Amino acid sequence: MSKKDKVYIFDTTLRDGEQAPGASMNEKEKLDVAFTLERLGVDIIEAGFPVISKGDFNSVKSVAKHIKNSTVCGLARSIKKDIDACADAVKAAKSSRIHVFLATSKIHLQYKFKRTKEEILKMAVDAVRYARTKNDDIEFSPEDASRTDKDFLFSVVEAVIKAGAKTVNIPDTVGYGVPSEFGQLITDIKNNVPNINKAVISVHCHNDLGLAAANSLAAIKNGARQVECTVNGIGERAGNAAVEEIVMALQTRNDYYGCTTNIKTREICRASRLVSKYSGFVVAPNKAIVGANAFRHEAGIHQDGVLKERTTYEIMKPEDVGFVETGLVLGKHSGRHAFRVRLKSLGINLKDDALDHAFDRFKLVADKKKQVFDEDLIAIAEDETKLVPKTWQLVSLVVTSGTKIAPKATVVIKSKGKASEASSSGDGPVDACYKAIEKIAKGKGELLDYSIQSVTRGKDALGEVTVKVKLKDKKYIGHGASTDILEASAKAYLNAINKMIAQQAK
Ligand code: KIV
Ligand code: ZN
Repeated sequence: MSKKDKVYIFDTTLRDGEQAPGASMNEKEKLDVAFTLERLGVDIIEAGFPVISKGDFNSVKSVAKHIKNSTVCGLARSIKKDIDACADAVKAAKSSRIHVFLATSKIHLQYKFKRTKEEILKMAVDAVRYARTKNDDIEFSPEDASRTDKDFLFSVVEAVIKAGAKTVNIPDTVGYGVPSEFGQLITDIKNNVPNINKAVISVHCHNDLGLAAANSLAAIKNGARQVECTVNGIGERAGNAAVEEIVMALQTRNDYYGCTTNIKTREICRASRLVSKYSGFVVAPNKAIVGANAFRHEAGIHQDGVLKERTTYEIMKPEDVGFVETGLVLGKHSGRHAFRVRLKSLGINLKDDALDHAFDRFKLVADKKKQVFDEDLIAIAEDETKLVPKTWQLVSLVVTSGTKIAPKATVVIKSKGKASEASSSGDGPVDACYKAIEKIAKGKGELLDYSIQSVTRGKDALGEVTVKVKLKDKKYIGHGASTDILEASAKAYLNAINKMIAQQAK
């Protein structure tokens, strides 16, 4: 692969992605996502915005310390205290970068900064020069570039490259660009910035008009060689360009783009699942590449075509993006060894207690469900690999509900080996169950969001519940899986409460 044809994947799931309303992750979750991104093969991980909070600073620092095969980057405004914090947070990384930004469009200059173009140009140059004294690898972004006066944009890009920026990132900050125009902007930059060959041109597109991936690809076609994106396209407002869409477009249409990436595409689904879980953003079934229906054929004519020749209706193979084949893998007679080996083949290594618990759960599920699929195993194992201490655990749950009776729940939950019981009525069975839990765990919460997805098909499928709960003024995301949706709901709520307890213990 010639370096010219390689597109660097700059993943900003942990920075722009985490800025999505309600998507915040804790430090451990962020590190787990970073490991997954490293395994996916992303070239650069933007791990956060270190100056904005102690939590962000610590997360970037921890990612920098642990990640070995991707460059770890932090974001900084064009001011010294941001650059200092960023330099400090990424310094332990094997390979690190500081990403400095400053808005350049007329609208931002006039209303946000009240500064002239000359002042902005100087601020950008000073910031890049200062950042270069801290780190060799500096990226500069003229924020709102797609709405910036072109001649001014060319001057800024030329000046920051002269000051030492090795990557210039052209953001379509508000998702205003359209593909032909945004692609042309990249060509114009190449033709009008004399020193452009000294830097990599990057793009960063938002999805307000649903064009983030299309704009990024148009930019690549016109010479951009770094693309900034997020897993599942999460990010500010309508989100960012989705890494899975860009990578699979480049791979599937290599005949057109002639570019490759380092991404191990078989890891895409795993990354998508993990980010969905931690961010609490459920992936829509029709989402390109990673949605549950992305490779399902319903129409008879399509099914017939695919059975005769796969390529009649499929342009990618599901296994190429890591969709696990749905097959009967284990049953209630399967032993611990077979269970562990199967998990290992799915990339999950559980040990000791976690393996024992997962095996017990598998036996219970196998009893109820008869057929246990890979997806079920992943859901069971993920329950055990949760990075949250199980301060409260569900022991039992009895719920009475119906069209003519008021819902009532009795729950038994335990902590440190001591079980407690409480009952409550509620507006519905889930509400009754949550109220009973609150009586014991003393964590009155406001349920902000509740969603349920089936892990596999069929009436006996495992249900996976995700809740967003406001507890003591902070938002927590909880998950739980079970063949019984009320049990899954209770587990999800306890998971959110346990996260709050872990957070408060810090
Ligand atoms: O959207 C944007 O402009 C950004 C910059 C900080 C790159 O996120
Ligand atoms: Zn952005």
